[in-house]
Amino acid sequence: MLYGKIYGLKVTSLRLTNTYGPRMRIKDARQTFLGWWIRQVIEGEEIQVYGTGKQIRDFNFVDDVVDAMLRAAVEPKAIGEVYNLGGEPIGLADLAKLLIECNGTGSFRIVPFPREREVIDIGDYYGSYEKIRTHLGREPKVPLKDGLKRTLDYYKKFFTLLHLKRKMIVMIPQASPLSQFLSYKQEILEAIEKVLDSGQYILGPEVQAFEQEFAQFVGVRFGVGVASGTDALHLAIRAVDVGPSDEVITVPHTAVATVAAIEMCGATPVLVDIDLDTYTLSPHRLETVITSRTKAIIPVHLYGHPADMEPILEIARRHHVFVIEDCAQAHGAMYQGKRMGSFGDLAAFSFYPTKNLGQLVMEELLSQMILR
Ligand SMILES: Cc1ncc(COP(=O)(O)O)c(C=O)c1O
Repeated sequence: MLYGKIYGLKVTSLRLTNTYGPRMRIKDARQTFLGWWIRQVIEGEEIQVYGTGKQIRDFNFVDDVVDAMLRAAVEPKAIGEVYNLGGEPIGLADLAKLLIECNGTGSFRIVPFPREREVIDIGDYYGSYEKIRTHLGREPKVPLKDGLKRTLDYYKKFFTLLHLKRKMIVMIPQASPLSQFLSYKQEILEAIEKVLDSGQYILGPEVQAFEQEFAQFVGVRFGVGVASGTDALHLAIRAVDVGPSDEVITVPHTAVATVAAIEMCGATPVLVDIDLDTYTLSPHRLETVITSRTKAIIPVHLYGHPADMEPILEIARRHHVFVIEDCAQAHGAMYQGKRMGSFGDLAAFSFYPTKNLGQLVMEELLSQMILR
């Protein structure tokens, strides 16, 4: 809500309690105890229920959570509201019994909190879904028992398929900033030391050198360092004079920042679907959403995969609209032998640690604007 207020976005808040279902985390008891129990019961381990076992929690199957999110996303009257997403309430010992029943075998044990350790049990914790039911017509459809069976089925197949029956699942980390640092540790530390020794900590020759080198790497004339990829997008959209009466086209399958940057300019985001082969903006669908109010198009080169820029640029030129590339995830990616960021009128890069500072690169435009 606060993020929405700061950036003037239309926000609906859904307060989830316990969400469960296929693909939930089952590796670590601290992530979700139900996921942990599911792994235990499948592997024939005894489930441990901490506390009295009578504490009540409520549970929502993942499909019911997605259904609530979609309803909230498309319903204008949900804007500014906070909804509890209470699910099916059950005592924890009863939940363990139900899980064992659904699995067909298993056992559980109540483990009282040790007296010598002051453990604060938060007691019962569940929410009512009355408000979302009356406002948005949302009613959970998957009873706990069915949801547990579906989740167990998924994980049983998963364990068998991967021959991991006796092992915990090791997830491949999505990003590893530490290992990136360690591979260039010496160079990074020397560069940091050089900046610290120079006494100039904001802008200065190092930033200027970086801007020039990065622009050269991308294959454009100018680069400007800014605070984040979101700022780079926001400034790029403002640089082409987008305002409240304009529409900006982008894709729904992107980080929230792409759409947020459009809304931060007061413009209307228009979403065009992605191409199923590339997961990037579908040029075939693009023309169907262009109107006389369209001012810019933001293709997103997601997961480092370039959007099909040739038809996108051709359509943009024909309709006299700007193209701003969202290159937050596309440093170094290439299309027809050229680096992403060198195709549109402007491009925004992110240097978030899992990618890497913010940087905005452009061909002619900003220089013209600065000169203007
Ligand atoms: C596609 C895309 N656009 C924009 C951004 C925003 O970048 P930043 O996190 O640097 O503000 C991100 C970051 O997650 C992104 O993935």
